[in-house]
Amino acid sequence: MDKLVIRGGHRLSGSINASGSKNSSLPIIAATLLAGDGTFTLHNIPDLRDITTFTQLLNYLGTETAFSDNTLQISSQNLKSLQAPYELVKKMRASIYVLGPMLARFGHARVSLPGGCAFGPRPIDLHLMAMEKLGATITIETGFIDASVKGGKLRGGDIHFPLSSVGATGNALMAAVLAEGKTTISNAAAEPEIETLCKFLIAMGSTIRGTGTTELEIEGAKSLNAIDFRNVFDRIEAGTLLAAAAITGGEITVNGVEPEQMKSVLKKFVQAGCIVETTLNSISLKSHGKLTPTDVTAKPYPSFPTDMQAQWIALMTQADGTSHITDKVYHERFNHIPELNRLGAHIEIRKNQAIVHGPQLLSGTKVMSTDLRASASLVLAGLVAKGTSEVLRVYHLDRGYEKIETKLNTLGADISREKYNEF
Ligand code: EPZ
Repeated sequence: MDKLVIRGGHRLSGSINASGSKNSSLPIIAATLLAGDGTFTLHNIPDLRDITTFTQLLNYLGTETAFSDNTLQISSQNLKSLQAPYELVKKMRASIYVLGPMLARFGHARVSLPGGCAFGPRPIDLHLMAMEKLGATITIETGFIDASVKGGKLRGGDIHFPLSSVGATGNALMAAVLAEGKTTISNAAAEPEIETLCKFLIAMGSTIRGTGTTELEIEGAKSLNAIDFRNVFDRIEAGTLLAAAAITGGEITVNGVEPEQMKSVLKKFVQAGCIVETTLNSISLKSHGKLTPTDVTAKPYPSFPTDMQAQWIALMTQADGTSHITDKVYHERFNHIPELNRLGAHIEIRKNQAIVHGPQLLSGTKVMSTDLRASASLVLAGLVAKGTSEVLRVYHLDRGYEKIETKLNTLGADISREKYNEF
């Protein structure tokens, strides 16, 4: 097992490139199942555990993939199995993304129910509701979702999501693009990852109106084509790197980004006392180390993203006063807090709100990762903690951050990755 050993106290400076987005790569990779001919070439795909897991699942289904230098080639001409097994699906919930495209292309799909996750229940009822609206019959037995449609072809329908769901919107889009007729999706998720999926599907030959908004209209196509496509940047990785500069009183520039997609996060950094400058494709952040306590409420895009909530809590441990961080997407996404408190933070949890009392001097010690963004928050805290911190079970971090210690060391951090054994 790997751990990150972080010697704190170094101001970060310099410039770094953002990686491709994990959360847009996954639906795009799933959407390649929709084309029966040709080979896709996907650029700017991050080299992450979740991507490896997902390509393993597609290989199991019969796709051919080749990944090198952040370019993924995929061909789905010879799919052989329509069942996504538990052993692979339990490794990553987003495996549910194969449901929509498989159902759309073959009229049948069997997908293991996804496992739970570290921060509370993550149901898939909205995914299933969307498939049923397009004519699918869904049964759940022995831990599997069995979806099929009479006559093998989905039919367009009207889908309304009672709450904003990135995954369910993605699955609905990937099912609707091959359904017969028109589909409308209201209260769709408008996250940049869904906007990128829409652009990808349009490039494949779909007709989609409303890209980037919460109201989508899709005209089903007879078939779709394999294409070359460049994936969007990872706004959560970029936000995490900016938070590393802010917490260490540093000054960095992140390149290869679209600041427009990070407005809610950049506004909070400015409120917290950082100087933020942007160009078309870069963001520079400078912090003098003095931070203003800044409240945040995580909500669907374009509000502050829940995937930056844990990182913001770590940052606010250094602010001159008390901050309130509320998560309205995942009410229990606070496993990082007991670990941050072990580093010396003083954070209380009241329902779905964290109350962070700062500034607190953090002292390095061993801390345990519990999920992807929680582990990112522990790394941020380790950067500013006195002495040495050890973040254990770094496999959580490797799911969503491409060589994060290399990037942070490039900016002046002092982190080493070491093997260790757990009792
Ligand atoms: C995506 O998860 C992201 N994952 C998550 O990022 C992110 O936190 C989340 O969107 C919210 O932005 C990927 O894109 C792979 P949702 P997803 O469906 O699609 C409820 C990370 O750190 N809901 O938008 O699973 C759900 O419980 C990961 O990179 C239902 O009730 O999230 C939640 O409260 C963590 N029924 C809310 O909707 C459903 O059928 C939003 O979830 C589906 C969701």
